Amino acid sequence: MKKKIGIIGCGAMGSQIAEYISRNLSDKSEIVAISDIDSQKTIKLSNGIKPKPLITTIDELINKSDLVIEAASPEVSGEIAEKADFLKKDVLIMSTGGLLKKQHLVEKINAGYSRIHIPSGAICGLDGLKSAMTGVVKSVTITTRKPLKGLAGSPYLKEKNIDIEKIDKETLLYSGTARDAIRYFPQNINVAVTLSMCGLGADRTNVKIFTSPGYTKNTHEIEVVGEFGKFWTKTENVLSEANPKTSKLAIFSAIAKLKEML
Ligand SMILES: NC(=O)c1ccc[n+]([C@@H]2O[C@H](COP(=O)([O-])OP(=O)(O)OC[C@H]3O[C@@H](n4cnc5c(N)ncnc54)[C@H](O)[C@@H]3O)[C@@H](O)[C@H]2O)c1
Repeated sequence: MKKKIGIIGCGAMGSQIAEYISRNLSDKSEIVAISDIDSQKTIKLSNGIKPKPLITTIDELINKSDLVIEAASPEVSGEIAEKADFLKKDVLIMSTGGLLKKQHLVEKINAGYSRIHIPSGAICGLDGLKSAMTGVVKSVTITTRKPLKGLAGSPYLKEKNIDIEKIDKETLLYSGTARDAIRYFPQNINVAVTLSMCGLGADRTNVKIFTSPGYTKNTHEIEVVGEFGKFWTKTENVLSEANPKTSKLAIFSAIAKLKEML
């Protein structure tokens, strides 16, 4: 029996995942439904999928799918995870920031008995952090470097009255917790929330965000210090052509997780 897949969010990530499923996973799965607040995006995506999926609401999509892929926004991802898990549907969540509003789900995921799956995103080192958590972990820090265009439109810039176009050298834009970081940069720093879920939590995971007109890649450096010693990881990510806020590796991580699940 083919797995019935529903995709919520038909932007850079949702479209590329759909394309991969149609090309490479059609023997095991079928995209039965898609959903997006932007009807142009759903029409464009559905035209490229055979057989054509149903364009529908989030609720109906969850009902019709065995496996739901969320690639939309932290504003809705918590609700989607909750509904899908309640209905015993597998769900892959990319906008992990939204899970912070549902602490009971974070606890369920960490305890390993939910149907909610979290890809590693555009970082590496989560396996090492999980191992390190067996002992005492003293600090977890993620330092992210993104080009100006990748941060444009963030609520942080508006709140702090920062004109991103006027930044002319490497600048530390933000330093604080993962919890505040995702509030200020909801489309940019889901990786910090993913990291926090595997480690010390959103209030004890440190985040630094730099930008510069000279940056062309999304770079994430992670430093973990604990009883085990210390480790550092660094990913230097090529940007998705469709959305400079998103790294290619994040899209690949969703596809890799999906293949594991199938
Ligand atoms: N976990 C990670 O490491 C990681 C990495 C990159 C991106 N992300 C997150 O994954 C999500 C998708 O990324 P993307 O690059 O495809 O973004 P995108 O902006 O290209 O696409 C998002 C799509 O979702 C739609 N959308 C927004 N709100 C919606 C809602 N309430 N209901 C239905 N559709 C809605 C938009 O119209 C858009 O088409 C984003 O939230 C992004 O922050 C996570």
